[in-house]
Amino acid sequence: MLRKILPEPLQRKLRPFKKNLFKNLFGYDFQADGLMSTGHNLEFMEDLRFKEAWEYSLSENKNNWGGSVPDIRWRAHIACWAATNALKLNADYVECGVHTGLLSHTICHYLDFNSVASKFWLFDTFEGIPLPSVDEKERKLVENYNSKYYFDCFSQVKESFSIYNNVHLVKGLIPESFRNVDITKVGYLSIDLNNADPEIATLDFFWDKLVKGAIVVLDDYGGTTHYIQKKAIDKFCLDHCIMPVTLPTGQGLLIKNT
Ligand SMILES: C[S@@+](CC[C@H](N)C(=O)[O-])C[C@H]1O[C@@H](n2cnc3c(N)ncnc32)[C@H](O)[C@@H]1O
Repeated sequence: MLRKILPEPLQRKLRPFKKNLFKNLFGYDFQADGLMSTGHNLEFMEDLRFKEAWEYSLSENKNNWGGSVPDIRWRAHIACWAATNALKLNADYVECGVHTGLLSHTICHYLDFNSVASKFWLFDTFEGIPLPSVDEKERKLVENYNSKYYFDCFSQVKESFSIYNNVHLVKGLIPESFRNVDITKVGYLSIDLNNADPEIATLDFFWDKLVKGAIVVLDDYGGTTHYIQKKAIDKFCLDHCIMPVTLPTGQGLLIKNT
């Protein structure tokens, strides 16, 4: 409710107090990103390798996200888990929807990506969600994201990932930009485009390239503001006889079994 009344800068200032209030008053172990958790083992957040990876990613992203990087550590943990699973699959990594790389920086640091024998392909316009491709029903939401968070970040992101020899940025409109690269086998696919049509086009393009055992992380599958995406993904899953799982983080997961 406060989110609707208070202006964004004030909400940002109040966020740490709100967090501690919930923690102290109600005994939550974790309260962020739409989650309030109690009685759960959160060792993963204290794991040194994960902690360092997250902190590193935060430092690379601190000036983005309107100056207030969302605490998506639980989502990042899921992404690191799915990316770790791909280490044994002898296939490439793909992220569609990168922005300034909050998830992908966490993964690259976590896996020490220079030591990984695969490539990591990062697809984005790197200048926000292209409105012409957005469905009328999602337009308001997308306009809001574009004005709040996205900017021409290509040179910044290029520079920040230049420490990795095997991370490749592909700038352009999805799905058209898929034609510019030759990717045959994928072991990790992350989709976070915040609009339905290119998300489905991504699944269509990569589904047959996913190797057996690969995991697809659908960043906003369970988010109530992304219901149009969910419906479109559910139809894709039905057509391909697969069942997505909704996680408490709001992410969805698919496993390629064949
Ligand atoms: C929520 S952000 C991604 C955040 C990112 N996963 C992270 O970890 O920080 C969504 C991104 O999708 C990109 N995007 C959305 N639709 C696109 C399209 N059709 N083609 C290319 N990029 C697109 C936007 O430019 C934006 O950077």
